[in-house]
Amino acid sequence: LIQPVILCGGSGTRLWPLSRPERPKPFLNLLGDRTLFQQTLDRVADRSRFAEPIVVAGEAHASLVADQAGSHSLIVEPAARNTAPAIALAAARLPPESIMLVCPSDHHIADEASLVRAVDQAGALAQEGWLVCLGVTPDRPETGYGYVEMGESLRSGSRVARFIEKPDADAARDYLSRGGFVWNAGIFVLRAGDYLTQLERHRPAMVRQVRSSTKNGTDTGSIFHPAAAEFLSIEAESVDYALMEHTDRAAVIAADMGWSDIGNWDALAAIRRADEEGNIVAAKEAELIDCRRVMIQSDGPGVSAVGLRDVTIVVDGDEILVIARGSAAGVAKLGGAKGK
Ligand code: GDD
Ligand code: MG
Repeated sequence: LIQPVILCGGSGTRLWPLSRPERPKPFLNLLGDRTLFQQTLDRVADRSRFAEPIVVAGEAHASLVADQAGSHSLIVEPAARNTAPAIALAAARLPPESIMLVCPSDHHIADEASLVRAVDQAGALAQEGWLVCLGVTPDRPETGYGYVEMGESLRSGSRVARFIEKPDADAARDYLSRGGFVWNAGIFVLRAGDYLTQLERHRPAMVRQVRSSTKNGTDTGSIFHPAAAEFLSIEAESVDYALMEHTDRAAVIAADMGWSDIGNWDALAAIRRADEEGNIVAAKEAELIDCRRVMIQSDGPGVSAVGLRDVTIVVDGDEILVIARGSAAGVAKLGGAKGK
């Protein structure tokens, strides 16, 4: 069985005001009536393939996890230290031969059959000791993702020739035009023991601290609390910077699975179903007259709009956000989004 490890963290500034630090993106119903975290659990619900998931989440979100998840085990981080230590916490509690499927909890995947196929292929490579990431064909020079240059072919997929986390705009344009690069989808398949061995080679202190906070942690039924003092001394770093950019044991399986990381309101509008006018209504009450490509999101108040083009309106609690389509990336700069 493959062991899913679901990462739930992040501060959620780009989908403000819906996402807020106390209720980040994974825990929102953005598409359908299950939250993104629940949809992540649903993808690994087949118990003939996947073991019961391990969720790694911060103290602040443990109760949201408990409310939204069915049966699972939970590792509670005393504070966020980014993904390299979060994955290591799960790896340190598993048998070294166990194959982990590391999943972010805030993505959309339209073609789940293609995900399952990719995970099977990745699992076979992981059995041979590869640290496998899933890749997505890029369609724009996005700088918020990791880029993987595909090298020599393996039994399936290919060796990672180079992994570049969040390149600058010039480099991203160059990778797109040269071809042979895919985006890192942030989904990894690897053996627990290999992850720790490779991470130890590049970040020995991190692995030492994770091991000691695991050894001295407390287990209460299905919830594990690593020892706080040891965990807090860890330097925060993502798996991409700490490991993927350095290891020579990385492989990639390209999987065109209809992947989106729903990075902002524009990205959400692109994957939601629109009516013939291009309008999208996620609100109990809304009236649109002569509107095109308008998205309305409201948690209560009715919203009326007349004669608008290419606008997104979000109403949440006592906050209202109005964005021109194409400008959603600017939301992260707003004071409110930073939790002021
Ligand atoms: N438990 C836990 N603890 N989870 C965390 C933490 C943490 O400290 N920090 C982040 N996460 C979770 C997030 O909730 C998300 O589900 C996932 O780990 C990835 O973190 P992000 O912060 O969203 O990373 P990113 O989007 O900047 O970049 C990563 O994802 C891209 C694809 O979406 C990288 O892997 C990129 O290379 C990749 O392209
Ligand atoms: Mg992300």
